[in-house]
Amino acid sequence: MEQELADFTGQEAALIFSSGFGVNVGVLNALLGKNDIAFIDLQVHRSVLDGLFRTNTKKIGHNNVDYLEFILKKERHKYETAMVIIDGVYSQDGDIAPLSETVALCKEYNTLLYLDDAHGIGTFGKTGRGVAEHFDLPGQIDIITGTLSKSFGTVGGFVAASKKMIDYLRYNTNTAIFSAAVTPQVTGSVLKAIELMRSDTQYLHKLWNNVHYLRKRLTEEGFDIKQTVSPIFPVMVRNPHKVEEVIRLLNERHIYACGVGFPAVTDKEARVRISLSALHEQKHLDTLIEALNEIDSLLHIKKHCQWNK
Ligand SMILES: Cc1ncc(COP(=O)(O)O)c(C=O)c1O
Repeated sequence: MEQELADFTGQEAALIFSSGFGVNVGVLNALLGKNDIAFIDLQVHRSVLDGLFRTNTKKIGHNNVDYLEFILKKERHKYETAMVIIDGVYSQDGDIAPLSETVALCKEYNTLLYLDDAHGIGTFGKTGRGVAEHFDLPGQIDIITGTLSKSFGTVGGFVAASKKMIDYLRYNTNTAIFSAAVTPQVTGSVLKAIELMRSDTQYLHKLWNNVHYLRKRLTEEGFDIKQTVSPIFPVMVRNPHKVEEVIRLLNERHIYACGVGFPAVTDKEARVRISLSALHEQKHLDTLIEALNEIDSLLHIKKHCQWNK
């Protein structure tokens, strides 16, 4: 399974963990110490922040390559190992990283690039290999991390990198060494998922047809879905109490969506988060739009009522 994941993500080797959260915590803790620095996007996943407690960090804004260049020029030379840490697809807003520019800057400033592609693997790229494939940058990312809990449909996570890096991590990553391995059921499911992804891109086409259709419909209907370009749709409500109510009303109509509020986002950024799958049919998406419109007539979510009203 490690070799399959490595091949699928275009890396030499991989190491499996029992959660994606544990990957980021363990790998970053193993690689960066007090003489090193991590340059991190403002919207990286919580697990990245929890892996950086032994090292120096600088925030680089969100998708801001000009600021990244400025800070690399100013700070890089003061440290031994430097690493830029970004997500491929941002988990709450559904936007994607400016990967080509980031790869070029990392090369110019002798800095490792760490890409958490939890949401990109299985969804982005011609054959679903993630944002590196989407931007046509195979083999140009030093470290790719992923989860088995999204497009693979199970639980667990992995890191994929050079053989030398993975050999080092295999003996130095506490969250892998001191935690149980994934179960045979997970391994079987993940191998099958990779086989399906490799053999047939019909699921990917179906998924992207759904994404284009839902984005068009939600925009036409006047919902605020930020700058999403992925199967993650934030429907902005900007009021945590209303989010709870919207989720309840969707559930009543047999639609499952996730309410997102503090601590994942601030109260003013509270939203309903919809994740699309290749198995959704257009009729499901029409039912969702109809339900959201009905709920809007009760709760006025399109208008972004003040969050504290
Ligand atoms: C970007 C990102 N990284 C890492 C994780 C953690 O993955 P897992 O659910 O496997 O712990 C998630 C999942 O929530 C995520 O969205």
